[in-house]
Amino acid sequence: MKKRLLLTGGLGMFGRDAAAIFRESGHEVVPADLPDLDISEKRSVRRWLEDVRPEVVVNAAAYTNVDGAETERDAAFRVNARGAETVAKVCRERGAFLVHLSTDYVFPGEKKEGYLPGDEAGPAISAYGESKLEGERRIAAALPPGRFLICRTQWLYGRNGKNFVDTIARLAAEREFIEIVDDQWGVPTWTKDLAGQLSWLIESGASGFAHAAGGGGPVTWFDFGREIVELLGSKCDVRPMTSEMLERPAKRPRYGWLRNESIPGSLVRHWKESLSTYLEEGKSE
Ligand SMILES: NC(=O)c1ccc[n+]([C@@H]2O[C@H](COP(=O)([O-])OP(=O)(O)OC[C@H]3O[C@@H](n4cnc5c(N)ncnc54)[C@H](OP(=O)(O)O)[C@@H]3O)[C@@H](O)[C@H]2O)c1
Repeated sequence: MKKRLLLTGGLGMFGRDAAAIFRESGHEVVPADLPDLDISEKRSVRRWLEDVRPEVVVNAAAYTNVDGAETERDAAFRVNARGAETVAKVCRERGAFLVHLSTDYVFPGEKKEGYLPGDEAGPAISAYGESKLEGERRIAAALPPGRFLICRTQWLYGRNGKNFVDTIARLAAEREFIEIVDDQWGVPTWTKDLAGQLSWLIESGASGFAHAAGGGGPVTWFDFGREIVELLGSKCDVRPMTSEMLERPAKRPRYGWLRNESIPGSLVRHWKESLSTYLEEGKSE
C-alpha cells in the first residue's frame, strides 16, 4: 500500500538511491538531511514531522565515519544513539512508524555461521558499533513493539558515496598490486538492492528486527576486491593481507555476516550479479 515516507539522511549514499526506489514502489517520499533536518535536535525533528505528517519515518541519518568515531565518540553518540532516540520519541508523539537502519557492527563478529535478526546484539567492538547499538536499544525502549523496525545491513556500496567498490576500481587503475584484508567476512550489499528489500519490509508490515543485505555470502573483502578487479578486466594483482597489517583505528567484526532468510529470494540477488550490474551502470554514465 502507498505510504507517505519521511527519509532522513536523504542525501547520503543509501538515501539517494532509496528515495528513487521507494518512489518506484509507489510511495510518496520526502527526503531530508543536514543542514535542514538535524536528528540530534528535537525541535528540528518535530518541525519536520509536523510539516510532512509521514506515516513512516525511514531513519538513514547517521554518523558513519567508523574510524573517526574512535576519537569523535561524542559526535557518533549524539547522532547514532541520542539522535535515533529523538526520532523514535517524536515518531511516538506523532503516531508514525519508525524504520531505522543499523549495522552488523552491533555484533562482536564471533559467529561463523552468521547472525540472525533475533540474535542478541552486543558487545560491539568499536565506538561506531557501540553508538549504533545504543541507538537500537533506545529505539526499542522509546517505542512499543509493533511500532518500529530496526533493519541491519552491511558492506554498502552505491553511486552517491565513498565506498569500497569505487576505491578498489580507482586503485586497480593506478597500481600494479593491491593488498586487501582476507580475515573479515560479510556480504556486499548494493544500496539499490537494500532499498528494494526495505521497501518490501515496509509493505509487508514487518516490525521488530530484520536483516537486509546481498545474497551469496559470506565472503571476505579480499574475495570482493578480486571480483571487482576481475569484472573490470584489470591486470592489477590482488593480494590477501590480515587486519593487523592494515592497522585501522577501529576494530571490525571478523564474522559479521547478516543472514536475511526472511526476505523473499527474488529480492536477494547474488552479490556478484549486483556488483556486475553496478559496474555496468557506471560505464554508461
Ligand atoms: N555504509 C555502510 O557500509 C553501512 C553499513 C551498515 C549500515 N549502514 C547504515 O546505513 C545508514 C545509511 O548509511 P550511508 O552509507 O548511506 O551513510 P552516509 O552516506 O554517511 O549517509 C548518512 C547521511 O546522514 C546525514 N547525517 C549525519 N548526521 C545527521 C544529523 N544529525 N541529522 C540529519 N542527517 C545527518 C549525513 O550528512 P553528512 O554527510 O553531511 O554528515 C549523510 O547525508 C546508516 O544508518 C548507517 O549506519 C551503513
